[in-house]
Formats: sequence, structure tokens, C-alpha cells
Amino acid sequence: MLSKLWTTLAAAAIGLTALGSCALGGDTIKIGHYGSLTGAEATFGRSTDNGIKLAVEEINATGGVSVGGKKFKVELVSDDTEGKPEKAGTVVTKLITKDKVVAVLGEVASSVSLQGAPVCQEYGIPMITPSSTNPDVTKVGDMIFRVCFIDPFQGLACAQFARNDLKFSKVAILFDQASAYSVGLKDEFGKALNKLGGKIVSEQAYTKGASDFNAQLARIRETGPEAIFIPGYYSDVANIALQARKLGMTMPLLGGDGWDSEELAKNAGDAIDGCFYSNHYAPDQPTEIIKTFVGKYKAKFGGVPDGLAALGYDAANLLFDAMARAKSAGGTDLRAAIAASKNFKGVTGTITLNQDRDAVKPVVIVERKGGAWGFRAAIEPK
Ligand code: PHE
Repeated sequence: MLSKLWTTLAAAAIGLTALGSCALGGDTIKIGHYGSLTGAEATFGRSTDNGIKLAVEEINATGGVSVGGKKFKVELVSDDTEGKPEKAGTVVTKLITKDKVVAVLGEVASSVSLQGAPVCQEYGIPMITPSSTNPDVTKVGDMIFRVCFIDPFQGLACAQFARNDLKFSKVAILFDQASAYSVGLKDEFGKALNKLGGKIVSEQAYTKGASDFNAQLARIRETGPEAIFIPGYYSDVANIALQARKLGMTMPLLGGDGWDSEELAKNAGDAIDGCFYSNHYAPDQPTEIIKTFVGKYKAKFGGVPDGLAALGYDAANLLFDAMARAKSAGGTDLRAAIAASKNFKGVTGTITLNQDRDAVKPVVIVERKGGAWGFRAAIEPK
């Protein structure tokens, strides 16, 4: 009770000091980003940070974000988690207590978000994860939101694509046993494939960063699957693809959004030809909003934005949209405005937050063909 009272007071104080700089003539408002700016998933954090930076630059070019009828320049404070769950608590605590951010964006990896979210909840500071898809992340509390779909739907979409489009009935799974994302997505995919009349013929586990996947692949090979579903992150997936092809296993590999990094094709080369993964958007989808975003991103950063960049951009813009509707930048007011977000036109789709503080959006399937990833299908939520 006392600690609850204390955090409520602390949150109110933070809400005040965050805007306090305007009293000094600064007229700024700070937002935080925690992400894997280095480490095995470094492209996740860097792409997200780029997407957020682009959104911040654009809002500041209009004079800033309006809060309670007054404009503030947005200042972004980004901090590195190295992709490690055990770093998240310290990094988020520092953003809130030292930098005095009014809202937190991040993380990408669900296992890292699951450690950062309780800190935001405790301090009463809203957090929006652009891309963590494990259902448990927003269940941490009413301060925690996401602008992406969740894994029960992503798993279903992958299973539907494997079963109905590719006509596969026997699929093996190779998953990261230490990752909340990987374990959750493999369960959802397996459940859905079974319901569609398919079968998981083998389920093998690995631990992130392993160098040898031969034992698991050999066991999978014995069961004769038509495809292998690998709900992991891109660094491991590249190694798995290379080792599978070395063993003479030529079946398509299927994955989830964790594959989304230009590093995957760089490291795996033609070992991932003919493979598929589910994602939040495809840069070659011919909509106006995507074309505009890709053009602006290329001009600023010089590369094609991946799904992480698009989601970072959407998360930041949805936050600015909520700020403009909020009574104040205090946690409670900001939280209420974010929760009320409806039909927000994002690059990754139209975002309405449901009562679980999750977004309900289509899943996109991309395919590796002719040395490039291309849009293959969109699967709409029911
Ligand atoms: N959805 C993944 C997770 O929850 C993170 C991710 C999202 C990775 C989008 C790549 C692209 O862990």
C-alpha cells in the first residue's frame, strides 16, 4: 500500500518535472526508447530507433507535439538493452527516474519487454511496445500497450499459409526454448496446424546463440517433414538454414517476424531461397502510405526500412496523436488517451487498441525469391 502510494506520488512528480523544463524556457518533452542497439539482435533496436527518430523529426518540424493546448519539442532518449532481458529493468528505471521521460517505447523482443514493462507499470509511466507479440507483455498492467498483433494470430496466420496455400501437412518445429516469443509462437502454430488437419511431426529446441544445430536437424530429418517452422531471431535462423542445407535438407523453412532483418539474407545467402516468414508489413506493398514512408526513410537513412522501423515510426506517431488528446503528460492522463486510440492510420495498418491494449491487424507473408524478399499474402484478422 505504502509503495503503491509512493509510486503514485513519484509518477505525479515525474509528470510535472518532465514538463518542468518549459519553466526554464526549454519547452521540451522527453520520451524514452529502450532497445537492442548492440548485440545479437542489434538490427531490431537500431531499425526501431531510426523509425522513432524519423517520427520525432517530423513532429518537431511542425513545431512539436501539443499537450494540453501547448506545443513542446520532443526529445528522444534512447538506451541500449543489448537485447538482454536482465538489462531491461535498469535501463527503463534510468529513463524514468533520471531522464524523466513521460512515456517509454520498446522493447522489440518479448522476453526483454516482459522485464521492462513492470518498471513502467510501477512508476505509472505508459509504455508502448512497437513489436513485442507475446500476449503476456500487455498483461503486465494497464500502463502497457502495443501497436502490433499478438502471437495467437501470427501463429494461426503462419499455419493457415502453410496448410492452405502451400498445402503442407507434415511440418517440424525448431524453437528457442529460452525465448518467450519463440515458445509462445511455436505453441500457437502447432495448435492451429493441428486444427487445420496438419501434423507437427517433430519438435526440437535450441538455445539462442548456439553454434551447432546438427543434432536437432538430424532428428527432424528422420521424420520427413515438408517444411520446418523456426520461430526464432535472425542470427540463429541464418545458422540453422546453412546447417540444414549442408545436411542435404532442401525443404522450405518458415518463420515469424523474428526473421525480419537484412542480416538474415546477408548471412544465410541462398540457403533461405524459397523460404517464407510472417511480418507486420512489406516495403513493396503498393499503398500510398507505405511508399511515402519508404521514400522518407531511404532519404534519411539510406536503406529500405524493415518492419521494425515501420513499427517504431507507428508507435511514436500514435503516442504523439495520444499526447495531443491528453489532458496532460502525466501518466494517468496519457494512459487514458493512448487507450482511446482508434483508427490510427499507421504504415503497418490501421491501429485500434482493444480492451487488452493490443492492436488487431493483418499479418503479411513474405517470400524469398530471386534473391529478394517480396510480399506474398496478407491474412486478415477475423
Ligand atoms: N515479435 C517479436 C517478439 O515478440 C519481435 C520482433 C518483431 C522481431 C518484429 C522482428 C520483427 O519477440
